[in-house]
Amino acid sequence: MEGKKETISNYVCEILKNYSVERRNLLPVLREVQEKLGYLPVRAMEKVAEALGIPTVDVYGAATFFNLFRLSPPGKHQIKVCMGTACFMAGGQIALDSFERRLDVRTGETTPDGEFSLEEVACVGCCSLAPVVVVDDFVEGNVTPTRVDGILLSWDIGKKKQREQD
Ligand code: FES
Repeated sequence: MEGKKETISNYVCEILKNYSVERRNLLPVLREVQEKLGYLPVRAMEKVAEALGIPTVDVYGAATFFNLFRLSPPGKHQIKVCMGTACFMAGGQIALDSFERRLDVRTGETTPDGEFSLEEVACVGCCSLAPVVVVDDFVEGNVTPTRVDGILLSWDIGKKKQREQD
């Protein structure tokens, strides 16, 4: 555990070398930390706060305010629900709510088994298929609540088949 904390601190220190000690660097630093670690661990946010001379609560505040930041590690499979204008108008929120209900997680969270993480993203460039969901690298279009069930069922079936082959 201690080793993991140290590794996180080392990554963050490396990233911070490229930035001056100014509050305005908070978001770019957090973005880079997330790119490196896949999410923002508490230790990383504490380190950033310390290095930029910002209260830790302000760093948490920024990390939770902007939905581009993840506070938990990404799942094995990442479900990205597009909330760009076309998708939003076509029912993106309904698709997102359906995933939240089916997986029993909120947006930005990962299922307890680490299988799926759910997030909302800006336009992914397939507006004619709205509402769009990207599961790993696979684009799903016209995602209704029934389709949400189908997507998750197909992953369950795929997993079962994989287990049978192992
Ligand atoms: S708005 Fe969703 S793909 Fe463009």
